[in-house]
Amino acid sequence: MIAVKNISKAFGSLQVLDKISFDLKKGGIFAVLGPNGSGKTTFLKILLGMVLPDSGEIYYQDQPILQSHAYRKHIGYLPQIARFPDNLKVREIIHMIMDIREEPAHPEPLIELFKLDKFMDKKLGDLSGGTRQKVNIVLTFMFDTPVVVLDEPTAGLDPVSLIKLKDLLHQAKNQGKMILITSHIMSLVEELADEVIFLLEGKIYFQGTLSDLQSKTETRDLEHSIAAILEP
Ligand SMILES: Nc1ncnc2c1ncn2[C@@H]1O[C@H](COP(=O)(O)OP(=O)(O)OP(=O)(O)O)[C@@H](O)[C@H]1O
Ligand SMILES: [Mg+2]
Repeated sequence: MIAVKNISKAFGSLQVLDKISFDLKKGGIFAVLGPNGSGKTTFLKILLGMVLPDSGEIYYQDQPILQSHAYRKHIGYLPQIARFPDNLKVREIIHMIMDIREEPAHPEPLIELFKLDKFMDKKLGDLSGGTRQKVNIVLTFMFDTPVVVLDEPTAGLDPVSLIKLKDLLHQAKNQGKMILITSHIMSLVEELADEVIFLLEGKIYFQGTLSDLQSKTETRDLEHSIAAILEP
C-alpha cells in the first residue's frame, strides 16, 4: 500500500533522515518509534506532503505521490501539535474541516463516544488539553480513509479515553486499514502494533515485529528493548 524509497531530509547540517526505505504491503498497525528528535514527525509530514524530502520517492498503491496531491484524501492525520485558532468553537472546527475535505464525514458517533456534546459550543482555547485532543481524534477518524496517520495521539488522554482510542484503532485495523502511529508509551505499542519501525540517527535501526525486536535485543519487554538499543 505504501512504499518508501531512499527518503532523505536534512535541516541545515542536521541529517534527520538518511535514505529511509520500507515497503508496507497490507493493512495493520505500524508503530514508528525512536527517541525525541529522531525524525518521526518529519517522516510522517513527508508522507503527507507537508514537508518535501531532499531526495527519494514515496509510492501509494504503486503510484509516486511526491508530485501529486490527490492521494492525500486517502489519509486521515492527527498531528503531534494541532494548531487551530483558539476562538473557533468545537462545532465550527468540525464543520470547517468537513467543508475543506469535501468528503463524507461521520463525526456524530465519535462525539458521542468521547462525550463531547456538552463542549460543542465551547471555544477550542477554553478546552482542557485532553478534551482538545479528543476533538483532534474526532477530526481524524470522522473520515473513512484507508490510511490513518497518528502522531502521538494519546497526549493528554485520561485512561477511559485511551481505551476508546485503542478500540478505534482496533476497529480501523479490522477494517483492513493501514495505521501509522508514533507513541512514546511502550505499553500501548506492545498492545497494538503489528510491526515497529525504529528510527535512530537518520536510519531505520530496526523494522519487524515486537517479538523479533525482543529476541534481537534479548530483553523481556519493549521498554527494555528500546533502552538496550539506546543505552547499551
Ligand atoms: N522545520 C524545521 N526546521 C529545522 N529543524 C527541524 C524542523 N523540523 C524538525 N526539525 C529538527 O529535525 C529533528 C527531527 O524532528 P522531529 O520532530 O521529526 O522528531 P521526532 O522524532 O518527531 O521527535 P519527538 O519524539 O520529540 O516528537 C529535530 O532535531 C528537529 O529539531
Ligand atoms: Mg514528533
